[in-house]
Amino acid sequence: MAASSIDARQHSPLYTNEIIIFVPSNSYSRKVKIDNHNKLHLKDVKAIGILKIKGHSPSLPLIQGGMAVGISLDRLSAAVANAGGIGVIGTAGIGMTVEGFASNFRQASIEGLINVIRKAREKSKGILGVNIMVALTNYRDMVVTALKEKIDLIISGAGLPLDLPSYLKPDSSTAVVPIVSSLKSARVIFRRWFGKFGYVPDAFIVEGPKAGGHLGYGIEDLDSEESSLEKTVPEIREFSDFIAKEYGREVPIIAAGGIFDREDVQKMFRLGATGVQVGTAFIATQECDADIRFKQALIDAKKEDITIIKSPVGMPGRAIRNAFVRDVEAGNKKPFTCVYHCIRTCNFREAPYCIAEALMNACRGDLQNGFAFTGSEGYRIEEISTVKEVIERLF
Ligand SMILES: Cc1cc2nc3c(=O)[nH]c(=O)nc-3n(C[C@H](O)[C@H](O)[C@H](O)COP(=O)(O)O)c2cc1C
Repeated sequence: MAASSIDARQHSPLYTNEIIIFVPSNSYSRKVKIDNHNKLHLKDVKAIGILKIKGHSPSLPLIQGGMAVGISLDRLSAAVANAGGIGVIGTAGIGMTVEGFASNFRQASIEGLINVIRKAREKSKGILGVNIMVALTNYRDMVVTALKEKIDLIISGAGLPLDLPSYLKPDSSTAVVPIVSSLKSARVIFRRWFGKFGYVPDAFIVEGPKAGGHLGYGIEDLDSEESSLEKTVPEIREFSDFIAKEYGREVPIIAAGGIFDREDVQKMFRLGATGVQVGTAFIATQECDADIRFKQALIDAKKEDITIIKSPVGMPGRAIRNAFVRDVEAGNKKPFTCVYHCIRTCNFREAPYCIAEALMNACRGDLQNGFAFTGSEGYRIEEISTVKEVIERLF
């Protein structure tokens, strides 16, 4: 396939000759017929809005990555949904948004999630999702609450969401979307979901090693070619084509991790992605829910400041190295009281610090007592912008 063109059939869920083209300069979408050769030239179109996830069809093939703790709440998710993408609320630590949460964190988390979803709905009629990490000890509470609130999508990673479809009623319009980092995990999830529940995943988010936050790879695998999106996206695309052929269901592939500009997006389309998930690029926007000092930490960060930490929850994480991170690396402990064992894999009795508290402190602007998670491209952010501007850079 020529580098400057996209095979529209490959990306069209129904292989029809009608697709939607999004034109960012004046933010409208329109349906067009394409010619019999089914070729579209990227010089003519900026992006092809053909993403369809269980009936939810954003005008942009874009999901904003859910960012905990407190980074993507109602403001950012609603702004992205209003701009034509899918806005996603990060649910880890959402109980901390409720006053007096320490006395009953479990209940506060349910209340916090209901509040944030409803506030986002007040701000947007667009498509909204929640990101619920499998590793959360209140995973079930979060899934059940999001379903009661009739959220459009539940996105779930940081572990394999093997039982996620079991929560769905047959007529539910909520899409369930696993985040995977390899073909192997995509296969395991498909076999389990189809075998046990007769359910085909509504999409696969393929998150590569350049993503921010906790990462689904061993530290030693982060730089390997085997883990790269360049390798994984085409493999999972092929698997999705196999599912389409054998089971008659289209499973969109959403690439995530290190996607920052139009060139990155187009590259993912050429590799076979149907859409992209972008997190870091949205942090330094006016609409992002984090404190301005958190956003400034990204603006100030240089490439060499971005580092991999060993998180107390047992996974590597990508973050901006600051005095807090250096202190922990030097072996110093940050005493804390665990109010709620929020992540299954966290050995809170021996953890040198509480990561939920450190991330919430940072989100609130206290970077003395916390640190900022970022994707590999965080250093490219130069100033505070808007969701619209970020989208214009992507499409
Ligand atoms: C500050 C921050 C917090 C994040 N929190 C979560 C989270 O709670 N759950 C999750 O599955 N992914 C989380 N991520 C990953 C993002 O959702 C997204 O998929 C990833 O960062 C994409 O790469 P990018 O940031 O380079 O665009 C987080 C990323 C960042 C930067």
